[in-house]
Amino acid sequence: MYRSHHCGELRSNNIGQQVTLSGWVQRARNMGGMTFVDLRDRYGITQLSFNVEKDISLCENARKLGREFVIQVKGLVIERESKNDRLDTGHIEIEVSELNVLNESQTPPFTIEDNTDGGEEVRMKYRYLDLRRNPLRKNLELRHKLGIETRKYLSDLGFLEIETPYLIKSTPEGARDFVVPSRMHGGEFYALPQSPQTFKQILMVGGYDRYFQIVRCFRDEDLRADRQPEFTQIDCEMAFVEQEDILETFEGMVRHLFTEVKGIELPKYVRMTYAEAMKKYGSDKPDIRFDMSFVEITNEAKGKDFGVFDSAELVVGICAKGAATFTRKQLDKLTDFVRRPQIGAKGLIYARVNEDGSVKSSVDKFFNQEDLQLWKGKLKAEPGDLILVMAGDTEKTRKQMNELRLEMGNQLELRDSKVYAPLWVVDFPLFEWDEEGKRFHAMHHPFTSPKKEHIELLDSDPAAVNANAYDMVINGVELGGGSIRIHDQTLQAKMFEILGFSKEEAEKQFGFLMGAFKYGAPPHGGVAFGFDRLAAMFGGTDSIRDYIAFPKNNAGRDLMIDSPSTISGEQLDELSLSVKSE
Ligand code: AMO
Repeated sequence: MYRSHHCGELRSNNIGQQVTLSGWVQRARNMGGMTFVDLRDRYGITQLSFNVEKDISLCENARKLGREFVIQVKGLVIERESKNDRLDTGHIEIEVSELNVLNESQTPPFTIEDNTDGGEEVRMKYRYLDLRRNPLRKNLELRHKLGIETRKYLSDLGFLEIETPYLIKSTPEGARDFVVPSRMHGGEFYALPQSPQTFKQILMVGGYDRYFQIVRCFRDEDLRADRQPEFTQIDCEMAFVEQEDILETFEGMVRHLFTEVKGIELPKYVRMTYAEAMKKYGSDKPDIRFDMSFVEITNEAKGKDFGVFDSAELVVGICAKGAATFTRKQLDKLTDFVRRPQIGAKGLIYARVNEDGSVKSSVDKFFNQEDLQLWKGKLKAEPGDLILVMAGDTEKTRKQMNELRLEMGNQLELRDSKVYAPLWVVDFPLFEWDEEGKRFHAMHHPFTSPKKEHIELLDSDPAAVNANAYDMVINGVELGGGSIRIHDQTLQAKMFEILGFSKEEAEKQFGFLMGAFKYGAPPHGGVAFGFDRLAAMFGGTDSIRDYIAFPKNNAGRDLMIDSPSTISGEQLDELSLSVKSE
């Protein structure tokens, strides 16, 4: 028997018991006649004590223990002299009578404590050591719990978890595919799924009217804190449903997770159309924990000989409550912020509302008090508030203003990580115009259905067609998205046509799906959630890497196994591949 208890288990009521523990040496301290060792495992830390006066050789052996040695001890649970209330086991210690070194360890390259001295790179290289740290352990436990509760909720509603293949043909979700060469079919390739989209739709045709899967997806795209090349979705599909059924079911799922895992009752979901989100927040995933929504003052701002406004398509402002106290230096910094290449604004105009209600702006030369009072009225600004204004092309300016709004939200501490503001963004456009390629792309994916009342616009004005598509957004994070699908083969064929697929191309890529649709496809729709994002949100951060046991770094590399890597000439030949020499 390696252990009778684990290292987080023993309490005062175990005093007097003989126990056996196993674990890792977190740290050893020699204090004169006593040696103390902190023994760690997944469950906690227990203090071991070795007394020179009781057993010299045992104590000497304890002094030889290095960090991260794996040991087993037997001993008596005794009351601790100096108690540590921060540790669950802090009222007891083990008076050791037998010590067995199960394995030695090299000195680890960083300290395995909550606040480690190891940089990100080194911790990723030695991920097995990082995984021993409490913060990562807690994250993975949280992820596990979310998985269990998800399965419980969906299973109780009659959803079946069904696996779909990883070696498939590319699915067009907007990112690049990772491809896998086939040895048996030289020159041919599998693709790893960007999502199980087409398979889950085929499952609906197969009659499995409630499907889900916690499933790995692969996308070869640029990485960010909330994006990994392989990530996990809670992927779901239902048949014989309308959009409303899906929104209710999955609002329920996320609500269940918040109650069960965080003990939080989520507030009512806000519903907002895509058009409204873009107009009021300049983003399809607005953080609505705080207001500061956009107010358009184009009409009020034009015609005063201020070139920037006169030449602008849109002049838009936000009102930052109580921020009139911002100093010139702070305002200059904000201007620098919006001018950064990532945001790309030309400048920022500001106006402070004084205590007496008068307005002082950075463009007083062009706007008199009467003009500025108009701005104030439209923005509902009060004494002590700060008005920030940007101008330019509508789309660009909204995006820039979105960045400024979020930055102001941060600076004014309005984005409280303990507050959750859930939102459904609905009525996404069906297409987005690709200026470079001069063609339409599907905004969600090509299987998304247009709104019934917009079908007749498909030929005449595709850009005006809205889709039965929706995203779940919480605190500015896109947690999930989905749509009601097209289940009619003629409409699906039309969709491919508008997206610029020739009949042959559509047949080659999606023939299997169109074929399936010929055999009685039920009306269906679904949604997929970013499971890693969900875990990170529950953990209170936006970096999903900390919620994945073995993530890739920002450059898409796994530093521990050193991948991607080259393969031998033999392997290349076998796969009918060749690598271009420099
Ligand atoms: P979508 O592409 O919107 O929809 O993806 C669904 C959710 O997956 C998460 N996500 C990611 N998480 C981490 N890293 C990534 N690279 C990444 N990409 C996406 C996001 C996103 O909201 N098949 C459709 C769903 C459907 O229509 O049912 C789909 O995959 O949280």
